[in-house]
Amino acid sequence: MTGPDVRAAVGSLGIRNPLLLASGILGESSGSLIRVYKSGAGGVVTKSIGIDPRAGYKNPTVFEFDSGMLNAMGLPNPGIGHFGEVVARTKAAGVLTIASVFGANEEQFSSLAARMQEYGADAVELNLSCPHVEGYGAEIGSTPEMVSSIVRSVRSSVRIPVWAKMTPNVADVAALAKSAEDAGADAIVAINTVKGMAISARLRMPVLSNSVGGLSGKAVKYVGLRSVYEICGRCTIPVVGVGGIYSGEDVAEYIMAGASAVQVGTAVSEGGPGVFSRIADELSRFMENEGFSSIGEMIGIARR
Ligand code: FUM
Repeated sequence: MTGPDVRAAVGSLGIRNPLLLASGILGESSGSLIRVYKSGAGGVVTKSIGIDPRAGYKNPTVFEFDSGMLNAMGLPNPGIGHFGEVVARTKAAGVLTIASVFGANEEQFSSLAARMQEYGADAVELNLSCPHVEGYGAEIGSTPEMVSSIVRSVRSSVRIPVWAKMTPNVADVAALAKSAEDAGADAIVAINTVKGMAISARLRMPVLSNSVGGLSGKAVKYVGLRSVYEICGRCTIPVVGVGGIYSGEDVAEYIMAGASAVQVGTAVSEGGPGVFSRIADELSRFMENEGFSSIGEMIGIARR
């Protein structure tokens, strides 16, 4: 007897299972991206890449605790000129590769997306949501007007699918997502991290060098689910859920909220790439036990 069909799709992009590596974890070299794919991910999202090399913030950049993690890396990356090789090698190994990019304006986003297309990326993910870097991410991705003009510009610059990654740190994430959809985005990714901070009482100072960081992991699952649910109520394009996914049942919850696929980040940083095959097995078992024969049967069924 064959098990349930766990193949997924985000618009025109078919995926062998709905589990993608989230941006920012193991996404800087082709070696680690290929390893993640071989460990069972359906595809990978690269680290966010900008126009120029950036060193990022000084340490400490990560604070781990029981139910998640706070990080403020500061978008460190080698710059687009050095990243072609990473995308090309990852693609040559047969890995579904979504390239994450961040820019300061429409021109930068469009030029980065076009370069990623040339390198062979299957889709581009626009980081409109990093919560703590001046001039980038959520600073320019928190109003429908800015989201709209960036997405419109990128959409007219590339043929590959354009995914817009949203910040949850706004009053109405669905309105932001709708502005991306209206501007031509092919999918919404929700959510990036929740803005937060940690204080050391002993040292009497913030833990992270940047003081403020992004919260991820178990602590944010319910923010992610709520965001996906709200976005799916307003948009018709596919949504990729992110936030606090550690188990097959977590994946099912996101799909039932309306997501077509999910991204896993903090669970990978805590448990290594092996979490993908475990989560995929759990999802398959869950589907079998609950009588689902395909991912499509589960999408949005918790919606009322
Ligand atoms: O600090 C960072 O590089 C985080 C990026 C992000 O949250 O998108």
